[in-house]
Formats: sequence, structure tokens, C-alpha cells
Amino acid sequence: MHFGRKLIHLDSVDSTNNYVANLVKEQGLSSGTVIMADHQFAGKGQRDAEWQSLAGMNLTLSIYLDDVNLSVNRQFRITQLISLGIHEFLKQQGIESEIKWPNDVYVNGVKIGGILIENHISGKEIKSSIIGIGLNVNQKDFGAINATSMSLESGKQYILNELYFSFIHVMNGVWEKYWADINLDKRYLNSLYRINVRSSYTDKNGEFEGVITGVSSEGKLRMERGAETIEYTLKEISFR
Ligand code: BTN
Repeated sequence: MHFGRKLIHLDSVDSTNNYVANLVKEQGLSSGTVIMADHQFAGKGQRDAEWQSLAGMNLTLSIYLDDVNLSVNRQFRITQLISLGIHEFLKQQGIESEIKWPNDVYVNGVKIGGILIENHISGKEIKSSIIGIGLNVNQKDFGAINATSMSLESGKQYILNELYFSFIHVMNGVWEKYWADINLDKRYLNSLYRINVRSSYTDKNGEFEGVITGVSSEGKLRMERGAETIEYTLKEISFR
């Protein structure tokens, strides 16, 4: 596995994730290829949300992997590695971040980046994966959206093309180092937003107070609520 051996850099596209999916269908794509865009006019986020990013300001890219060979019930491992990669990259850039389960990266409680992974599954195996990453870099104004960027956190202005190469370098290092690491779960939990902190959440029964104690191997959020421990999927819980 090696990310970024090939890079396709686009001026403008609907969504880099969609672009990868179409390219794979039409002509095939080598594993590890990165599609990066200066501007996405229909960027996709989690839960059918839109991913908004000002043109030329941020990293918006997708990585295609076709040699994943991971059983479906272990798919969360990809999310763990990618979020740890972003966390590690920010750390190397002098920015302390936390991973907000399952797909976001936060700095001081505010979102700086997000991940949208679309897997192609056959039988019980993940055959290929489109890993979409949006990381706010130079954008300073997010309108009504509560978000932050590397620039807002550090006061620096970044050269996106240079940053891209450092980013891919760190992602490759993290993937290599942690893919088979038995301590991956521990590393992930060490950087998890609100771990072991009593906070407010909402589920189908309304607002409640609970404590995140971990994440199951299938990627469900483990929440201690009084004497009970409940496991939640993404759609079953929201943070307050
Ligand atoms: C989220 O936090 O909701 C996930 C955001 C993922 C955004 C990235 S930007 C590059 C890639 N292409 C998309 O359309 N979405 C992902």
C-alpha cells in the first residue's frame, strides 16, 4: 500500500470521491492514486451533508485503494488509521487535535477536518475503498458553520502544494506503522475527543449525560450511561 504514487490534480470537480468512483468504472485506477481538487462544487460530507470548502484554500482529496483485503466487520480500522494520520500530521505541524468519533478531527472542540470513506464490498470483504479527506487549511471565514482551520490555529499561511506532500508522507508512515499494530485501538482512544469525560448526547429517547469509554472493533461508540454500557452507530447518536 502506498498513497500518492500517482496524483491527479483537478481545478474543479463535483466531488473527488465521485470522480474516483467514475474513473474506476470507466477505465480503472491504480491503488494509492490520489485525486486532489482546488474546488469541489458538490463536495460530500457525512450523513448526506454537503462539504463546503472555499476554492484554493483547503485540502480536499480522495485516495483510492483496491488492495484492502479486510473483512467487513473490521472496516473501522481504515477510519482509525486515516483519522490517526490526520491527527499525526497536525501534530507535526504544531497543532494539537483530537479525533471525534467516528469521522472528524477537532481542535479545541471545533472541527478542522472530516473523512468520508466509501467502500466497495463483495461478500464479506472490502474490495476497494475511496477515502475522502477534507482538511481546512487557509480558510478563515466559515460563515455560520462552526469550524476552524490550520491557519486560524497557527496564524500561518500555508502553501497547499507543499503541504499536500507532507500530508501524504505522514499518511503513508502512519499506515505502514499502525496497519498491523495490536495497539492501534489504544492509540486511537488516546486521541479520542471526550474519552472518559461526562458530557451531553442525544439519542432516540432524547438528551442524556454519558461517558464515552471506548469504541468496539466494529466501530460502534461505547457509552456508559449510569450502570449500563450502550453501543451506538453513527446514526443513533449525536454530540451536544
Ligand atoms: C464530513 O466530515 O462530513 C466528511 C467530509 C469529507 C469531505 C471530503 S473533501 C474530499 C472528499 N470528496 C468529497 O466529496 N468529500 C470528501
